[in-house]
Amino acid sequence: MNFDLVVKNGLVVSASATYHADIGVSAGKIAAIGEDLAGAQEIDAAGKLVIPGGVDIHVHMQMSLGDGVISSDDFYSGTRAAAFGGTTTIVDFVEPGPEQTLVEGLADRRAEADPQVVIDYGLHMTIGPNEIAKLDQVQAAYDAGCGSFKLYMAYGFRLDDGQLLRALEAIRDAGGQPVIHAENWDVICALVERNVQAGRTTPHWHPRSRPAPMEGEAAGRAIDIAHFVDTPLHIFHVSCSDVVERIKAARAAGWPITGETCPQYLFLTWDAYDAPGLAGTFPVCSPPIRAKSHQEALWQALGRGDLQLVTTDHCPFTSDLKARGLHDFSKIPGGVPSIEMRLAGVYQGVVREHFSPNRWVELCCTAPARLAGLHDKGDIAIGLDADLVIFDPDRPVTLSTDFLHERCDWTPYDGIELTGWPAVTISRGEVIIRDGEFLGEPGRGRFVERIPNIVKR
Ligand code: URP
Ligand code: ZN
Ligand code: ZN
Repeated sequence: MNFDLVVKNGLVVSASATYHADIGVSAGKIAAIGEDLAGAQEIDAAGKLVIPGGVDIHVHMQMSLGDGVISSDDFYSGTRAAAFGGTTTIVDFVEPGPEQTLVEGLADRRAEADPQVVIDYGLHMTIGPNEIAKLDQVQAAYDAGCGSFKLYMAYGFRLDDGQLLRALEAIRDAGGQPVIHAENWDVICALVERNVQAGRTTPHWHPRSRPAPMEGEAAGRAIDIAHFVDTPLHIFHVSCSDVVERIKAARAAGWPITGETCPQYLFLTWDAYDAPGLAGTFPVCSPPIRAKSHQEALWQALGRGDLQLVTTDHCPFTSDLKARGLHDFSKIPGGVPSIEMRLAGVYQGVVREHFSPNRWVELCCTAPARLAGLHDKGDIAIGLDADLVIFDPDRPVTLSTDFLHERCDWTPYDGIELTGWPAVTISRGEVIIRDGEFLGEPGRGRFVERIPNIVKR
């Protein structure tokens, strides 16, 4: 049989196995895994790793915070940068307007994304305070392919504990997967107000207004409410050991709780906020970047299985927007770009012997796909989408804005050296990145309807 495409001679690494094989692709699907396969197009992957395309289930493209503040990667530039970094599927968010139904909000967000995306994507549905009156629509959103629901304990989207309970019940009844931003908003507001009034306005005070034990408290409270409601819960962007301990305890009790961390927490420390001038505003994100001891705890948690996956929370704001908070840290738009370096960044856990290559694939590809209900993604098996990355494990790279393709005039990883980088990215059988060249098209990506593996009650 002649395949459309064959990736030859590579070392295939999945979450569960490592073996030498050729991979045959037909009609965008993995059609064969074997020896001496032949195809109309053949790519030699000798000396390289062949892994599933990366799956990043937490990104914010062209996210508006109002007043002209919008994250700088749109669905085209952001998915193109993702592809350069070996990510072939993302999950972004719907934030329905106050007068909109959830399904109308989904249609609007899809109308923004569909013409631009170069890789496949899904959308989480946000349940903010305005959506508490719309909880009877959760099933319709689920049926339309939004199988996961985003809840906030911070910002204007913040739900109080009673609203959290009601939202979790509605998501449980629909069979959806809740995901949550866990911080203690009341404590944050009090500390921000106290620090700003006392003239403590530099970014140095951002992490000191959002203490790690309070992130742990909020995550623990959310976990307890989810347990009471009898629903799974996924904790977004874990920044500190305090939250790891809560997740670990819940899982030890057999509760279906999962957690993710992000590259900013794995590669940066809170000293970054003390960089002079505007540079100190760049790493502002929430939860904030913590002291070195937390960074070490997060790497260990990934290795031990106490955290289940790595996403990016990719949400860049250009330096002119970050500058709006130069004299008041509480006005700095929060978020950093990480979408392109995630896969290679987490590979440093293999280089530094925190975990195996299989665990790397599990953290960046397989576990996020399974959690988000992306059943055709995140693994290498016959019949799945041919989303593949040929990864050069030996290539040294130095990160910089010149090297990266994100639409942002700074990167928090400037000067960081990594070993390993994707050489080829394949999305549904189409080579979209090859040796630093982009070969894809805006709009070629597809919206993926997602149904997480949760027993409906
Ligand atoms: O500061 C951050 N993380 N911005 C993105 C939105 C969020 O909280 O996930
Ligand atoms: Zn968040
Ligand atoms: Zn986020």
